[in-house]
Amino acid sequence: MARKYLIETYGCQMNVHDSERMAGLLEQAGYEATDTDDDADLVVINTCSVRERAEEQLYTRLGHIKGLAGRTGRAPMVAVTGCVAQQEGAQVLAKSKLVDIVIGTQRVKMLPVLVARAEAAAEPLVDVATPYDEPTFPLGLTRRDDPVKGFVTIVEGCNDYCSYCVVPYTRGHERMRAKAEILREVEELAASGRKEVQLLGQIVNHYQAPDDAACDFAGLLEAVQDVRGIERIRFASPHPRHCSDRLIAAMRDLSKVCRHLHLPVQSGSTRVLKAMRRRHTREEYLRLVEKLKSTLPDLQLSTDMIVGFPGETDDDFRETLSLTEAVGYHSMFSFKYSPRPNTLAAQRMPDDVPEAEKTRRIVELQALQKSIQARLHEASVGRTVDVLVDTTSRRRAWELAGRTSGNTVVNFPGESHWLGTVVPVTIERAGAFGVWGRPAASEARHAEAATC
Ligand code: SAH
Ligand code: SF4
Ligand code: F3S
Repeated sequence: MARKYLIETYGCQMNVHDSERMAGLLEQAGYEATDTDDDADLVVINTCSVRERAEEQLYTRLGHIKGLAGRTGRAPMVAVTGCVAQQEGAQVLAKSKLVDIVIGTQRVKMLPVLVARAEAAAEPLVDVATPYDEPTFPLGLTRRDDPVKGFVTIVEGCNDYCSYCVVPYTRGHERMRAKAEILREVEELAASGRKEVQLLGQIVNHYQAPDDAACDFAGLLEAVQDVRGIERIRFASPHPRHCSDRLIAAMRDLSKVCRHLHLPVQSGSTRVLKAMRRRHTREEYLRLVEKLKSTLPDLQLSTDMIVGFPGETDDDFRETLSLTEAVGYHSMFSFKYSPRPNTLAAQRMPDDVPEAEKTRRIVELQALQKSIQARLHEASVGRTVDVLVDTTSRRRAWELAGRTSGNTVVNFPGESHWLGTVVPVTIERAGAFGVWGRPAASEARHAEAATC
């Protein structure tokens, strides 16, 4: 009987995509997927260390596995991968006897080899080497569960060293993937019937093709636009300081590029942004937003925000609130500052905003964001929007959901075979996190029926 694997993923889309790659590798090695601990022979925990809480999840999870092993006497092989693995290396083994393998972010491809070696050697193995090769991955191996959308990594690592951020230490320095390989993977997605590609990188718009000196990120978007079968292009995350006029013009001119930009700002205070080493001011960011909105009037923006960064005063926080209001984000991920190992902020700046104050600020920011979102959703009622259907309900086949080009989630009744198609939907009702509507075509059919 085939051995079974379970992969649990924490963190960002790049980690989700690495898990898809590891699943593909394990299946090639003869493993089968399972979704419970009970019958897993191998549990892979793909970790994130961007905030302390994300890191703690690893040890909580290892505690569960230990409990299960105690109760049933069955102990699966455990591999820890991803950013905590890269950061802590062999220390993970010292903290938990349960772990058999530790694999760093640049050694994903080694998973099946190390599993086989650990089985034979019966001793823990660690591979957190940083070969810093150009990132590449064999085509056709990734296991993709989403039938409509697919991730394609274009840049790995980051050289920006924002003072709060652990990512340059866990993902290494910035490496660009070859344009030819990216395009082959996008073509593979299209050939498998997928309609939307999501290009991934820590700073995706810093892309410069290593195999084509004339191809920057805008050039890559132009090349992806030409792939037949792909209907939508998204990307995450762009950095405000690399949003050139050329990129904005490309977004305007390329019909497949979605009208959504996730544009992390982190704070509304120039003083805090400087301490964060973000390399953009509040004013520059707001000017960029103006330019984007005037060139792309239907663009929807989202962002990441940190509250309680060292030295953040109440006035700084008020600036975060006023910037949030001024931009009018359609969604936001907000976080309480958490000191991370090796970062400049953790080493040089005392974490001086009390936890209760961080909580007060995040609650206020999230309440403001919720009201902005509700207002924007309310304003969309009555409009007809194109929705790429990406979800059918497990319980009721006629309940569908998908996203607009601007990334709003739209729920509506329809038929399950509409999955992967673009349906015009008239929005009837707004909610905090999405909207509800009815297919415009069927409305037209009703209207026709009524006049007959
Ligand atoms: N590459 C992206 C973000 C990567 S990390 C960019 O440049 O914006 C994802 C988000 O986690 C960040 O945008 C930031 O808002 C948050 N984050 C990173 N480090 C953090 C920390 N130490 N404390 C709290 N939030 C943090
Ligand atoms: Fe982290 Fe800054 Fe790099 Fe984003 S740009 S990954 S926040 S260091
Ligand atoms: Fe987390 Fe690593 Fe992504 S730290 S956010 S999983 S790059």
